[in-house]
Amino acid sequence: MKRRMTGSVHAPTHRWVTRKFTSACLGAWLLHSMLHAQTLPRTPEPAPSAALVEAGFKTILDRQLGNCLTCHALSAANHPQHLPKALGQQGNFGPSLDGVGTRHSPAALLQWVTDARKIKPDTLMPPYGSLEGVHQPNAARPLLEPEQLQAVAAALSTLR
Ligand code: HEC
Repeated sequence: MKRRMTGSVHAPTHRWVTRKFTSACLGAWLLHSMLHAQTLPRTPEPAPSAALVEAGFKTILDRQLGNCLTCHALSAANHPQHLPKALGQQGNFGPSLDGVGTRHSPAALLQWVTDARKIKPDTLMPPYGSLEGVHQPNAARPLLEPEQLQAVAAALSTLR
């Protein structure tokens, strides 16, 4: 008798726990789908600040930093006014950077500069932000710091 009593006392507790658990799961699922709903539709990215874009172009053109025009071309008409129009010798080893902001998303541009091998394993584009598999006689350091990579990607995204 006592046993049955205990059983009947426990049953609602059990149901209560099950209900709590179910609603917790439902809540987690709802939160999960809300978070996904935010990432799924491609909301336009906020435009990078003018200062970041300028820093990026400086890094791109600086022979000690990006030195990107050794391998890439960039039309003078295609970059902001405040930068030197004399862009010097330009390479054609890689594709022209003109319009590159329409060909790749901001995230993809950052990946191209950080480590293009993650996009195209046999690429000849140097990895500016990674030392993976790189063996050089000099003290190993990535060619560009994370902030410089962000700036370069921001500058590239404006090339439309
Ligand atoms: C040693 C030559 C070299 C240098 C220096 C170089 N790149 Fe590249 N880059 C390439 C090559 C080659 C490709 C084409 C990659 C491929 O198809 O494998 C490329 C591809 C790219 C792409 C993709 C272009 C597209 O249209 O799909 C971007 C963006 C890019 N480089 C940006 C840069 C930036 C920014 C710098 C300087 C920080 C830089 N590159 C420096 C050789 C270079």
